[in-house]
Amino acid sequence: MTFKIAVLSGDGIGPEVVSEAVKVLKIVAHKYGISMSFQEGIIGGQALDIMGEPLPQQTLSLCKDSHAVLLGAVGGPKWDRLEFHKRPERGLLGIREQLGLYANLRPAKLFSPLADASPLKREIIEGLDILVVRELTGGIYYGKPKGIEPIPGGEKGFNTLVYTTTEIERIARLAFQLANRRRRKLTSVDKANILETSVLWRKVVTRVAEEFPEVSLNHILVDNCAMQLIRDPKQFDVLVMGNLFGDILSDEAAMLTGSIGLLPSASLGSEIGLYEPVHGSAPDIAGKDIANPLATILSAAMMLRYSFNKPEVADEIEGAINQILAEGYRTQDIYHKGTKLVGTRKMGDLVVQNIFL
Ligand code: IPM
Ligand code: MG
Repeated sequence: MTFKIAVLSGDGIGPEVVSEAVKVLKIVAHKYGISMSFQEGIIGGQALDIMGEPLPQQTLSLCKDSHAVLLGAVGGPKWDRLEFHKRPERGLLGIREQLGLYANLRPAKLFSPLADASPLKREIIEGLDILVVRELTGGIYYGKPKGIEPIPGGEKGFNTLVYTTTEIERIARLAFQLANRRRRKLTSVDKANILETSVLWRKVVTRVAEEFPEVSLNHILVDNCAMQLIRDPKQFDVLVMGNLFGDILSDEAAMLTGSIGLLPSASLGSEIGLYEPVHGSAPDIAGKDIANPLATILSAAMMLRYSFNKPEVADEIEGAINQILAEGYRTQDIYHKGTKLVGTRKMGDLVVQNIFL
C-alpha cells in the first residue's frame, strides 16, 4: 500500500522545516521500500492570502483523503489584526476539530549531547523522557458560550470550560495505554481544588484506572505540576491533562530539553494522524535558513511510529539525530561555543546522510 501524506507547510519557518522533514521521509521510504505519496495543501495565513480563509474546504478534503498530515506552523504579524475567526490559528483549531484529533502527544526527551543546552542543571535533566498527553478538542478552547459583549461601563469577555465524561474517558484511556508501554506511571493534572470540571476529570480518570491495574496513577494540581517540572522532572513518566493546561505545560516541558526547536508532536484520535512541531511559525527568522528543522523531522518520525506502524524506522531517525548532535552539529537555537553551527538545510542533509550511511 501507499501511505498518503498531506503536507501543509503553513507560514513563517513552516515551509523550510517541513521540506527538511519531507526529505527525511523520502530517504527512509527509499531505504526501506515504503511507498509514500506527498500532496501539498494550504493552511493558515497562506490560505487566507489565497482563498480568504484559514482552512479551505479543499485542504480539509485533502487531509481526510490521506493517512497522515505533516504540518509546519501557522500565523504571523501580517494576519494579527484580522478578526478572531479569520486568524491563521483558527485553521489549526479547525483541522484538529474536523479530523477528531482529541489526543495530542508531546514527548520531551533529552538528547544527551544537549544536556548543556538546557537552562537546568545536567543532573536534573540527564536521561529525561516524559510524555505530555494533552486533550486537544475540548475544554476552554472550544467551550460555549464565549464572546465579548458590552456591559454597562465597559465590556465583558468570557469563555466556558467544559468537559464531558466521554471526553475525559477517551483521553484518559489513551494515556493509560501509552503509559502501559512505557514506565507505567501516569500523572493526571488538574485544578480539582477550584474547578468543577477538574473534580469530574479526577473522578473519571480514577475510574478508568481500574482498567489498568498495572499502571500507577497519581493526581497533581496544575500549579504544583508547573513547579515540579522544574524541580524534578524525572519523577514523571506520562502526564495527562486538559487542553489549556496542556498548552502551557507542554511549552514548559519542551524547554527542559534545551530548545522548543526540538519538540515534535502527534495528534491522534481518528484514522488520520496529524504531526507537527510544537514550536510556532517564528516569523522573525523565516526564510533565513537558520530555523531548527529537528522538531519537524522528529514529528515525521512520530508519523512512522504511530500512523505507519514502523517504530524501527522512527528509532533510526531519532538515532541519526542523536548521532549528529553528538558530533557537535547545532542550529542557532542550541548553538554554543565549541559546537559546529549549521543552517536548516544543512541540518536536514546531515540527517539524510546519516540514515543513508
Ligand atoms: C500549540 C499552539 C496552538 C494552541 C495555537 C497556535 C492555536 O500554541 O499547538 O500549542 O494553543 O494549541
Ligand atoms: Mg502552545
